[in-house]
Amino acid sequence: MNKPQRIFITGASDGIGAGLARYYAGAGSTLGLVARRSELLHTLADELHCSGTVVHVYVQDVADTDGMAMIIKDYLDRTGGIDLVFANAGVALPGNILAGDARPAARVFQTNVTGLVNTLIPFVPIMVQQRYGVLVGVASVAGFRAYPRREAYCASKAAVRTFVEGLRMDLHGTGVRAITVNPGFVDTEMTRDARQRPLLLSVDQAVRIIASGVAHGRDIVTFPWPLRLAGPLWRLLPEGIVRVLVNRFPLW
Ligand SMILES: NC(=O)c1ccc[n+]([C@@H]2O[C@H](COP(=O)([O-])OP(=O)(O)OC[C@H]3O[C@@H](n4cnc5c(N)ncnc54)[C@H](OP(=O)(O)O)[C@@H]3O)[C@@H](O)[C@H]2O)c1
Repeated sequence: MNKPQRIFITGASDGIGAGLARYYAGAGSTLGLVARRSELLHTLADELHCSGTVVHVYVQDVADTDGMAMIIKDYLDRTGGIDLVFANAGVALPGNILAGDARPAARVFQTNVTGLVNTLIPFVPIMVQQRYGVLVGVASVAGFRAYPRREAYCASKAAVRTFVEGLRMDLHGTGVRAITVNPGFVDTEMTRDARQRPLLLSVDQAVRIIASGVAHGRDIVTFPWPLRLAGPLWRLLPEGIVRVLVNRFPLW
């Protein structure tokens, strides 16, 4: 694959999304960057302009279906096409389930699931017309199995994995690819409150692995590599054993 030049990234104000923006920046690149924190997005855009990158900043909540359709139309009107999309925005709010409060879990699903479909689906017609393009859905190894206090997050990432798998089936033969990315622990704001972060990677390490998976045409990118082996085994374990293990070795 040639270096993609027209790239749209949600969750670009911080963490992995900002790292992806820096990785794909450079003369000839036109980035569309989406998040809610305007100041962080504009500071990043100023930094990237210095390398000759064209940056379109969109201060937008990914959970808003109409708002996302509008900014994607604006981006496509400006660029005339698209090479690569990262549906990366996500939140991992702790559940408040025992207190009977559904709002944190609802917000997790709105951002991680509705936000992802709001990002990927509007690009499908133009990519199919181009007979070219890559759609990336950022899931998580947390989507392999439920985890206490983060059940909504785990369920949302399982939904992302299944959705992107189906997208690959829909797009078969069209020339458009859909990739599922399953990171383990990456050193970002999202994971700083974890009690332990086994096999932790830096943002730069994670971004290089994701970009390499995109460049090599992988369907699924799970990292770090020990989790590619451990993930399927973890899914096969009986629930009773998993319940004992996650309560004995809590990550949150
Ligand atoms: N870090 C990890 O260990 C890890 C592991 C597995 C998977 N992941 C996944 O990787 C992705 C990136 O996470 P990260 O670690 O980089 O987290 P992060 O540093 O907390 O960044 C999350 C990004 O998502 C944006 N965002 C959150 N809610 C949004 C909304 N409603 N609308 C628009 N943007 C929104 C945030 O920007 P604003 O707040 O400015 O809107 C921010 O730019 C997420 O999908 C996450 O689930 C992370």
